[in-house]
Amino acid sequence: MYESFFNLKQKPFELVPSPDFLFLSRSHKKALTYLKYGVTERVGFMLLTGEVGSGKTTLIRNMIRGLDSDIILSKVFNTKVSSEQLISLINEDFGLEVSGKDKVTLLRELNDFLIEQYAKKSNPILVIDEAQNLTPELLEEVRMLSNLETDDAKLLQIILVGQPELKKVLARPELRQLRQRISISCHIQPITRAETEDYIFHRLEVAGNRDAVVFEEGTIDAVYNFSRGIPRLINIVCDFLMLSAFVEETRRISSDLVREVIGELETENRFWQDSDSISSKIENIMKEIESLKRVTSELQKRLAAGQKDAVRLPSTRSTYEYREP
Ligand SMILES: Nc1ncnc2c1ncn2[C@@H]1O[C@H](COP(=O)(O)OP(=O)(O)OP(=O)(O)O)[C@@H](O)[C@H]1O
Ligand SMILES: [Mg+2]
Repeated sequence: MYESFFNLKQKPFELVPSPDFLFLSRSHKKALTYLKYGVTERVGFMLLTGEVGSGKTTLIRNMIRGLDSDIILSKVFNTKVSSEQLISLINEDFGLEVSGKDKVTLLRELNDFLIEQYAKKSNPILVIDEAQNLTPELLEEVRMLSNLETDDAKLLQIILVGQPELKKVLARPELRQLRQRISISCHIQPITRAETEDYIFHRLEVAGNRDAVVFEEGTIDAVYNFSRGIPRLINIVCDFLMLSAFVEETRRISSDLVREVIGELETENRFWQDSDSISSKIENIMKEIESLKRVTSELQKRLAAGQKDAVRLPSTRSTYEYREP
């Protein structure tokens, strides 16, 4: 919309994880180097974590693009799936036929495929993004895939990518084995104040005009303070700033404009937070109703069976559990 006004080829602050825009902060650079090393050295299991919007998907997409030609890739971006669906997604992305096949067949075919690739000296990699949504059971299945190996080499390398909750899931005792296999683990940190400035100008430059706007003194500090160094939040503020500047037909980003835009975003955030807390309250009430229904039906059954003594009402409101007399 505002591209031509600012002499830009494309929008600089879109929310899609476009690898072309990758800015290498210290932390992004370190993660990228570690992952590339892990892939080249075939270390087996790798983990990439970072806060929501910190740049995990952007980084992994950029890394994928720069991979050598001997690398064969399967990417899974949908993790709210059953174990059969997961194997199916993996095989499909490796180019295997999946329709109408059961899990045992899918696993056998994956194994055969990996052995074939090993013979051809190819390097198959599986990237699972949004891995924080995988259940512990699915993570265990993923670990089993890493068991596919010959006497001297791993047949499949796996990169798990996810938000910090992924680490919490991995901390469970039953996932000890998986945890022990992770050879490379990187966490993307929020970017610093100085990097925020470089990040903004880097994105403007990639979009076609580094000098599209002039940030007045203190305005980048305000963007940094609002975003706490999270690139997605920087993009949201900056896109909004450019739009507002366009409306006012100016190329200067003033303190007043920043204050106004951040004020609006904060009001909006509060609205969503309130909605979140209302919906979580409703969810809790629904859970209590469900639990009450279970208790009531249990009590009715016991009464019907003449077990009057077996009926005790729970003493605390928060636990509507049936307790044995
Ligand atoms: N290092 C970076 N260089 C350029 N743009 C970035 C960088 N990191 C993040 N971004 C931008 O920030 C936004 C969010 O990035 P991305 O989707 O990669 O985050 P994420 O960590 O995968 O988030 P989520 O946890 O929601 O999956 C995107 O618009 C992306 O282009
Ligand atoms: Mg992502």
